Amino acid sequence: MYYAFTDKLFLQREAGSKIVQSPENFRGFRVSNLTHANRLVVHEEIMTSTTTVKLKPSAKPGVTLTFLLTADPEHISVGRAVERQRTTLEGELCFYQKHLVGAFNVFSHLSERFAAFRIPSSPEVQGWVRSVRAQKEVLFLHINDGSSLENLQVVADPSLENRDLTFGSAVEVEGKLVKSPHRMQNMELKAETIRVVGPCDTWLFPLKMKERHPLEYVRQFPHLRCRNNTLGSLLRIRSEATAAIHSFFQDNGYVHIHTPIITSNDCEGAGELFQIEASNEAKESAEKTHFFNVPAFLTVSGQLHLEVMAGAFTHVFTFGPTFRAENSQSRRHLAEFYMVEAELSFTENLQDVTQVIEDLVKTATSTVLSKCPRDVELFHKYVAPAQKDRLEQMLKNKFVTISYNEAVEILKQASQTFTFKPEWGCDLQTEHEKYLVKHCGEVPLFVINYPYDLKPFYMRDNEDGPQRTVAAVDLLVPGIGELCGGSLREERLPFLESRLQRLGLADTYQWYLDLRKFGSVPHGGFGMGFERYLQYILGVDNIKDVIPFPRFSHSCLL
Ligand code: 4AD
Ligand code: MG
Repeated sequence: MYYAFTDKLFLQREAGSKIVQSPENFRGFRVSNLTHANRLVVHEEIMTSTTTVKLKPSAKPGVTLTFLLTADPEHISVGRAVERQRTTLEGELCFYQKHLVGAFNVFSHLSERFAAFRIPSSPEVQGWVRSVRAQKEVLFLHINDGSSLENLQVVADPSLENRDLTFGSAVEVEGKLVKSPHRMQNMELKAETIRVVGPCDTWLFPLKMKERHPLEYVRQFPHLRCRNNTLGSLLRIRSEATAAIHSFFQDNGYVHIHTPIITSNDCEGAGELFQIEASNEAKESAEKTHFFNVPAFLTVSGQLHLEVMAGAFTHVFTFGPTFRAENSQSRRHLAEFYMVEAELSFTENLQDVTQVIEDLVKTATSTVLSKCPRDVELFHKYVAPAQKDRLEQMLKNKFVTISYNEAVEILKQASQTFTFKPEWGCDLQTEHEKYLVKHCGEVPLFVINYPYDLKPFYMRDNEDGPQRTVAAVDLLVPGIGELCGGSLREERLPFLESRLQRLGLADTYQWYLDLRKFGSVPHGGFGMGFERYLQYILGVDNIKDVIPFPRFSHSCLL
């Protein structure tokens, strides 16, 4: 039996019908087993402020559902889904279901209209017990299957109580979904049978019922912390943010490239590489040579491989694991993190790059806010109360841009004394980044045109003096510091050749020089640290709390 329900209404489809991974604002359990048999086909729709869309499940001819949609700006995604359907006129449920469920939810006051749907006689739900409350006459359980922050309330006869039915245990419950008498929830499950699939010793289990454990506490249990509400929300947000970033690039015509994880070059030239060697046994069989014949490393950036692709595709991106052997325990560095990188060909202006960064940050953020409002709300309520306003400001306003020269001037004139004295030619330290962001009004800030000597070999010389500055950009954001780093790339062969010669890298990068010999175009790109992005939107202080399994110096648990 497959079903889904929202705050106010319940809908059910035949076995084998579609369904949804429940979005955050959709209270319910995951329903699976999508087939094409039960497509919804849009038959007719008119976009006005109050719009009637008639949807007809194709497997059930004759049944027409009517949804009322409003042009409520808060629910743009609903509008967009409909808008797209209008252009194609036939929308498949498998594609739009998620939005439509959102629509059900938003317009749930129309629940009476769905009376035609049969409520399944005995659905079965699976999940983990989040609370147990036994009263004389009734037993209450809250169970959660990870699809939403919301639990499903199960109401049972006390005779179904069982000593294994504790906080943390895994259960399967069969029963009837009924309208709940409680104001806070719409549906509840009246249990007929409860089966404890996996008991949980609450005495030994490090998570405790109804306790709001601090992030530092649950960090000690990387194998169990996903069962905690905060980490559960984080992981759903992370999943939505990943999808939102992919959609942003796909919607804007970028081709996704799988850049390699094992590489023989150090893109950033900073020497923060993890070298790969075969394990002992394999090493012997490789007769004490390098497995790949050359030293090989885990990638520090997919940029150079993206640049290869930028010679054939005008817009490319990659989004994958990235590794840096930075001996840092800081709250914004990991040894393994995810980086989003993009490369744009035929780009002569750094502003083209900063525009993509700004659009990416804003679009991904609004998508995440609309897709998982309750999960985000948990962070904005309990973890970083000021963050909601900050994000609203960020979404409304244009990001600020200053040059490195201006940044140094601002720092020199600051009344604050810094541990690292600001000087032209020195890298910006975290304390400087913080000051600059504050000085510019706690908004995202692009700092552009850094000193030539501070930056890697691939950055484009601005020719504003002998090797004085390069067309580089860093995006600094409140609370975090550097979120993105990018640049125009040096596309001119003689410039690149002489820089690589000076660095003694000309042989290593022959292939890179080839890119400048055959159809070279001005191009540029950037990389955004995905964990830092999550820290920024959620206001999470420590980067270790926004990745499922943090890896950093002296720690590789599990
Ligand atoms: O500024 P970075 O080093 O830029 C590059 O690697 C370029 N090749 C990207 C490109 O142009 N395609 O790194 C980009 C971003 C940083 O701004 C930061 O957000 C993140 O990656 N980052 C880290 N995040 C977590 N832990 C670390 N150790 C990080 N190092 C960089
Ligand atoms: Mg950087």
